[in-house]
Amino acid sequence: MDQAVERLGYVVMGVPDVAGSADFYRDVGHLTVHDSSAGTAFLGGGYDHHWLRLEQQDQRRGLLRVGFELGSDDALGDVTDRLDARGIAYEEFGDLDGDAIDRGVRFTDPDGLEIDVYTQMLSRGTKPGQNLVRMQEMLHAVWFSTDPVAAHDFYSGVLGFRASDWIKRNAVFMRSGNNYHHSMGIFRGSPERAATMDHFCILVESIDDVMRARNIATSRGATLQKDVLRHAASGSISVYIADPAAGISFEFCTEHDIVDADHRARILEATPISRDVWMQGTSREEIKRLTNAAMGVTSSDEGLARIANSIA
Ligand SMILES: [Fe+2]
Repeated sequence: MDQAVERLGYVVMGVPDVAGSADFYRDVGHLTVHDSSAGTAFLGGGYDHHWLRLEQQDQRRGLLRVGFELGSDDALGDVTDRLDARGIAYEEFGDLDGDAIDRGVRFTDPDGLEIDVYTQMLSRGTKPGQNLVRMQEMLHAVWFSTDPVAAHDFYSGVLGFRASDWIKRNAVFMRSGNNYHHSMGIFRGSPERAATMDHFCILVESIDDVMRARNIATSRGATLQKDVLRHAASGSISVYIADPAAGISFEFCTEHDIVDADHRARILEATPISRDVWMQGTSREEIKRLTNAAMGVTSSDEGLARIANSIA
C-alpha cells in the first residue's frame, strides 16, 4: 500500500493555562507563537503555521489530537476510500482563517485517539530566527496503545505507514513518506494510558543544538525527563524535557536515521542498551543506576523490569 502520509504535521494538547504553556514552549522549547486567540495558541519552529496547538482545557490535559500531512491532494480521497471500506466514520474539516488547514478529514483510531490528515497547512512567509537551537522538522509523536500490534495494522492499512522497528511487540516505530525512521511511535500501555502521549520530537541540526537545548532547559528550571542518550532503533541522539502542565515530555534529537525504502523492520530486544547504546560497556550496577534514574524510580530492579515489559 502506498504511503498516504508524508510527515507529522502537528500535535494538539490540552493545558490548564494556555498563556503559561506558550511561555514554557517559548523559553525551553524555542518555539514561537504564531497566532493566538481566546483559549488557543499556535506555535512552531519552521515555515509551517504551527507544530503545536495548545487548547485551554480544565479537564482533558495532554494529547487531544495528532495531525499528519498527506503527500498529495489525491491522497485525501485514497484515505477516505480506505476509511469507508472499513466502516470508519470521519468528518471533513479545514479553514485557512481558523485552524490554518486547507482540507482534511478527522477520525478516531482503535484506542480512541483523534487523528487528522490534511492536504496542506498555511505556510509562514519566513522561518522564525533561530540562533541557539536550529530546528529542522516536527519529526514524530509517540503515544500509548493497549495493543501496538492492532495499532500497527490500523495505521499501515488506513494511512500506509510502514514499521521501521519493533521493541519486542511492545513498541512499534512507523515511518511515513519522508522516510525518517519514524513519524509516529506506539508504546504498549494500560487502558488508562491508551491514547495519551509519551512525547513529541523536534529534529535539530546537530548535537550542538541538542546540548544547548538541554543546558538552556536546566538553567531555566525545567526538568530533564531523560538526559542525553542515543537510541538503538533510530540512531537518534536525544534529550527529553518534561512538560508537567501537559503531563508529557518533548524531545530534541539529531542524527535520526533516514531508512531505505526496502528496510525490513527489526524486532529489537527490550534492554537498557536498546534504549541507550551509550550504556554498553558499563557495569551492571551502573546500568541499573542509570536506568532507574531515567525511569524516575528508585527500587533496585524496577527500571529494568519496566524496560523488559515495555520501553515506556
Ligand atoms: Fe522520540
